[in-house]
Amino acid sequence: MSRLLVTGGAGFIGANFVHYWLQQHPADRVVVLDLLTYAGNMASLALAAGNLQYRFVKGDIGAQGLVEELLVGEELDTIVNFAAESHVDRSISGPDPFIDTNIVGTHKLLKAAKEIWLDGPMAGRAHRFHHVSTDEVYGSLTSEDPPFAETTPYAPNSPYSASKAASDHLVRSYHHTYGLAVTTSNCSNNYGPFQFPEKLIPLVLINILHGKPLPIYGDGLNVRDWLYVDDHCRGIDLILQNGKIGEVYNIGGNNEWTNIDIVKHLCGLMDEVLGADAGLVARFPQTPAAAGKRSDSLISYVQDRAGHDRRYAIDATKSRGELGYLPEESFQSGIRKTVAWYLNHEAWWQAVMDGSYHQEWLAQQYGDDER
Ligand code: NAD
Ligand code: DAU
Repeated sequence: MSRLLVTGGAGFIGANFVHYWLQQHPADRVVVLDLLTYAGNMASLALAAGNLQYRFVKGDIGAQGLVEELLVGEELDTIVNFAAESHVDRSISGPDPFIDTNIVGTHKLLKAAKEIWLDGPMAGRAHRFHHVSTDEVYGSLTSEDPPFAETTPYAPNSPYSASKAASDHLVRSYHHTYGLAVTTSNCSNNYGPFQFPEKLIPLVLINILHGKPLPIYGDGLNVRDWLYVDDHCRGIDLILQNGKIGEVYNIGGNNEWTNIDIVKHLCGLMDEVLGADAGLVARFPQTPAAAGKRSDSLISYVQDRAGHDRRYAIDATKSRGELGYLPEESFQSGIRKTVAWYLNHEAWWQAVMDGSYHQEWLAQQYGDDER
């Protein structure tokens, strides 16, 4: 039985991980620590709310004292660190929070773990600090390059990926210098339920419903390796169960798409769904199907992202060989499930779009005065 601190558990992957973990490991304790930045959403954790093994704490991974109190008070033996600023475009327009949370925050979390698990009241007990990182730390590939392996040298290109790279190095150093029991995973692009609609896939789905342009950065030929979020959660589970301390594991989907192809694929799926559901078209009168048009008529090429990495691809040979990791969800089924999820959870994304998702939770907790 494990007792987990899941940081960033109100974000996209963190919330999916909490649901995954409570289902797969019902005897385990799961404490979520999340600052509820713009990307954190309590509605994403609503399914967990009645579970007695689950507790939510609003707070910063950089609040070392709070983390130490939680580790001791809840007798936690595992940290899974999802908490981060995660959007590349935001890191270009405003890098500071990326430095604060991804680097300084992760370092405070490491200090808290060292203080309690190595030097303090829980010294000698088995523990694990798992750090969730990204394939972006390896830089950019050409179409001819082999995929990223764990041995690929780091070459981050955006303030986001540089801040993640820095945190990866700090995690590594706390193992080599102090003996903290760490593992790290570097994963490719995730998609699935609860993803904030600033990211490509949910943005495209919601813009199609509203008849808004589908912005394609540059020539649209940048390549990403897409993985259904549950497969990422399973990969982390395998690392927590069987990963070697101090090791890094790549997790990927073996599923490379150019951006323009994935957007066209989404347009085709949406045309299919809208064509079969007159009620849906009536609810979204701006959607192209309402005027007898195709969704890809909304595609609009826009200025490229500064420093835009051309291609990411993951070589997950090590995870497959050591842990038996393989993605289970096919892209065809995963993307259909994702489209269906967004269509069936309009209240979730409408609240995100109109900004009420934070206010509603604060009002429930503290009453209208403290909003
Ligand atoms: P997200 O932006 O959806 O969620 C991040 C969460 O962290 C939010 O709930 C936010 O409130 C919380 N948070 C931010 N700063 C915090 C702080 N200082 N203290 C506590 N909580 C804080 O991100 P995501 O897409 O779910 O990504 C989760 C992790 O996985 C990140 O570390 C990211 O780098 C990594 N990752 C993401 C992807 C992807 O495709 N989304 C792929 C590989 C790795
Ligand atoms: O590779 C893993 C990374 O994947 C994670 O570490 C990041 O946290 C996550 O945000 C994601 O980064 P990307 O930059 O790849 O994801 P995003 O959804 O922002 O963009 C995917 C691709 O689509 C990228 O090449 C930029 C492009 N794009 C994105 C948006 C939002 C567009 O062409 N138009 C858009 O409007």
